[in-house]
Amino acid sequence: MIESASFIMDESRHMRNIANSLLELATLRDYVPEMSGINVQKIFDEISQAMLVETIVDTPDMTIKGQEDLIKSLLLNLCSNALKAGSTHVKLAAMGVGSQVKITVTDNGCGIPADQLQKIFEPFYRLDKARNRILASGGVGLGLTLCQRIAAVHGAQMQVMSQEGVGTLVEVIFKSS
Ligand SMILES: Nc1ncnc2c1ncn2[C@@H]1O[C@H](COP(=O)(O)OP(=O)(O)O)[C@@H](O)[C@H]1O
Ligand SMILES: [Mg+2]
Repeated sequence: MIESASFIMDESRHMRNIANSLLELATLRDYVPEMSGINVQKIFDEISQAMLVETIVDTPDMTIKGQEDLIKSLLLNLCSNALKAGSTHVKLAAMGVGSQVKITVTDNGCGIPADQLQKIFEPFYRLDKARNRILASGGVGLGLTLCQRIAAVHGAQMQVMSQEGVGTLVEVIFKSS
C-alpha cells in the first residue's frame, strides 16, 4: 500500500517535472531575453549554496551578458547532471577569453560514451533510464535540451567533452557584458 502510494507520488512528481520543463521550453521558443550584465561570482555563490560544487572565478568582477534566471537554470542543470553522474568532485569555473567568458562544469563521474554524446541533447534522452529514474531526483531527460535552448537565446556556444569512466566537461562560452 505504502509502496504503491510512493510510486504514485514518484510518478506525479515525474509528470510535474515534464510539464514544467516543456512549459519552459515552449516559452523559450521565440524568446528574446532581456539581457543585462550579470556578475558571475554572485551566480556561482548562489549555486554553491544549493549544491556541493567547487567554484572558481578568474576575476571577482567578471560579468556576462544575459538573463540571470535563465543562466542560473542552465548552470544548475549542468551541475546537477554532474552530481547525478556519481561524481565525487564537481568544479564550476569561469575564465575570460578575449571578449568572451568561458564557463566550465567539470566532473569525475561515469562519463558519456562517444557514440551517445550527440544524443544527450535530444528531448527525453537518458543513458540509463532505469537506474537514473530511481537515483535521479526526478530528471526526465529535458535538462540538456533546455540548456541548449538557453545557450542559443544568449548566442552562447555549448560543447560537451567526455570520457567514459573518467568524467565530463561541459563548456559554455558567453559574451562578456
Ligand atoms: N555530466 C554528465 N555525466 C554523465 N552523463 C551525463 C552528464 N550530463 C548528462 N548526462 C547524460 O545525459 C542524459 C540527459 O541529460 P538531461 O537532459 O539533463 O536529462 P536528465 O538529467 O533529466 O536525465 C542524462 O540522463 C545522462 O544520462
Ligand atoms: Mg539534467
